[in-house]
Amino acid sequence: MKILVTGGCGFIGSALVRQLVLHEGHQVVNVDALTYAANPQALEGAAESEAYVFEQANICDLGVLKEIFARHRPDAVAHLAAESHVDRSIDAPAAFIQTNLVGTYNVLEVTRDWQANGAPADFRLLHMSTDEVFGSLGREGRFDEHSRYDPSSAYSATKAGGDHLVTAWRRTFGVPSIIVNMCNAFGPWQFPEKLIPLMIMNAIDGKELPIYGSGRNVREWIYVEDTARALAAVLASGTVGDSYMIGTGVERDNVETVRAICAVLDRLLPDTPHQPHDGLIRFVDDRPGHDGRYAVDHGKIERELKWSPVETAATAMEKTVQWYLDHQPWWRAVKTERYDGRRLGMTEGPPQ
Ligand code: DAU
Repeated sequence: MKILVTGGCGFIGSALVRQLVLHEGHQVVNVDALTYAANPQALEGAAESEAYVFEQANICDLGVLKEIFARHRPDAVAHLAAESHVDRSIDAPAAFIQTNLVGTYNVLEVTRDWQANGAPADFRLLHMSTDEVFGSLGREGRFDEHSRYDPSSAYSATKAGGDHLVTAWRRTFGVPSIIVNMCNAFGPWQFPEKLIPLMIMNAIDGKELPIYGSGRNVREWIYVEDTARALAAVLASGTVGDSYMIGTGVERDNVETVRAICAVLDRLLPDTPHQPHDGLIRFVDDRPGHDGRYAVDHGKIERELKWSPVETAATAMEKTVQWYLDHQPWWRAVKTERYDGRRLGMTEGPPQ
């Protein structure tokens, strides 16, 4: 099958491209704009394959997208290109409106056009989304495929809007789509603005570990390769018109997550002067609009598509910390050239 992946140089997109090319024998056309968090190095192995083609393009450019579809004639589309960092959506929401809403609209319009003009009968569009579209849970309960949308940030509001556009284009124009709402992913090659890689980098360097607010906010965590396997399963056998929650049942509050990172580093770096690493934890001002808890019920994908996570919380964290220890040249270059680790999302300046 020839699968067009948008955002295939992103953290989850690159894991999906590796999964499709290296483990499932598909052809992939990767459409990526190479914005700040893109990372072509993460395509290790897949990029050298004859089954892989790269098109540098922005999904906000409708004309270019049309031309790419016409040239490659995909059997399926996995739409992952997005602005994804909540803190950046507080500082500068405009890019989120563009990519997550206008870009998704463009992908839908081009898909609709392709469907009317030659797409195979079983063509499908997978739209990647997030559990954040449902807002914040209390102490009990989990999001499922019937949860009500209630986003809190510009990031999650634009992802929610994207989901609604995808549903509308299916109902109104017959675009055959499937939506995936996923919990927090982590693992190799994650851009170090996100909690886990930022804490690992800071701890290795003996820098403070800034935890927002009380640190009692709960997230559900999944290893990125489990994510890629889940997305591939939905692409292959998901039901058009359905949505699927992807999760693991591994819920942690942020203090627990950061302490787990510190415990692995204490063991792997016995001689560092920064022992014990959890002594670096600092509680800092909270994120505006900070959601208290996300958790998902992934029973449907487990029952219907026979997917379940391979990694445990412990193996996933061990692999991730070890990977960041082994790939210091990569993240040190990212720190120098693209993001130095400073606090984001507290801007009080005028709108951009
Ligand atoms: O739930 C899925 C979502 O998970 C994805 O859709 C988003 O793209 C992804 O960014 C992630 O959103 P979060 O806001 O949960 O991820 P983040 O890594 O930014 O933060 C995780 C938690 O850690 C959150 O409660 C905020 C907190 N945090 C984050 C940073 C960067 C801190 O306490 N300190 C920090 O320095």
